[in-house]
Amino acid sequence: MSSNPRLPAESVPVWHHVLSADLAAHAQHPAARFVQLATLGGDGFPANRTLTFRCFGREGALVFTTDLRSQKCEQIAHHGKAEACWYFADARVQWRLRGRAMVAGPRTRTHHALRELVWARLSESSRQRFVWPAPGQILAPASKAGAISPTAAPASFGLLILSPHRAERLDLRAEPNRHLCWLAHRGDWAMTELNP
Ligand SMILES: Cc1cc2nc3c(=O)[nH]c(=O)nc-3n(C[C@H](O)[C@H](O)[C@H](O)COP(=O)(O)O)c2cc1C
Repeated sequence: MSSNPRLPAESVPVWHHVLSADLAAHAQHPAARFVQLATLGGDGFPANRTLTFRCFGREGALVFTTDLRSQKCEQIAHHGKAEACWYFADARVQWRLRGRAMVAGPRTRTHHALRELVWARLSESSRQRFVWPAPGQILAPASKAGAISPTAAPASFGLLILSPHRAERLDLRAEPNRHLCWLAHRGDWAMTELNP
């Protein structure tokens, strides 16, 4: 999937251009779209998992797909804070993006068009997962085999949208190493350089 439904230029934070350039440099590497996303569990433990980056939303938000029956959606409903960690192995670049996360499903008032767009671009095998039994539950004898890939987005299909207020880029290839940090404050972004 291309990384970008068009964004109004003025609403795009600077770090977004830098991350987009890193992504463009890895366009031939499917694994470069895998991101670790940490959320907070109700038991106070962090919960981390791999997600596939789908595209950017408004103001540089990161858009992922999720099964609405999954643990992460429950966690985000309770604690909307999340952090993504992204590593471009060959470039030796790490991104950390921290902010508020929200989940958009069929009954969410916003993001209808984006949800349809992302669904339309999913592969058949990805679509099929949304009609399997609920993720993370004990495997039931009723098998997922034979589940028909739906054409319209099923009720279980959702978007997970992370809107960062802090973005960090650590470059271990640069000599000396570089650690850039962008922080949002009242609608503006400020960049500082940190010790690596
Ligand atoms: C390479 C890879 C890509 C994945 N992509 C997604 C994805 O885009 N969306 C998703 O919900 N789960 C994805 N998963 C599965 C998640 O890592 C996780 O197992 C699942 O979402 C359930 O997580 P939860 O119980 O914390 O909600 C992916 C797993 C791997 C290994």
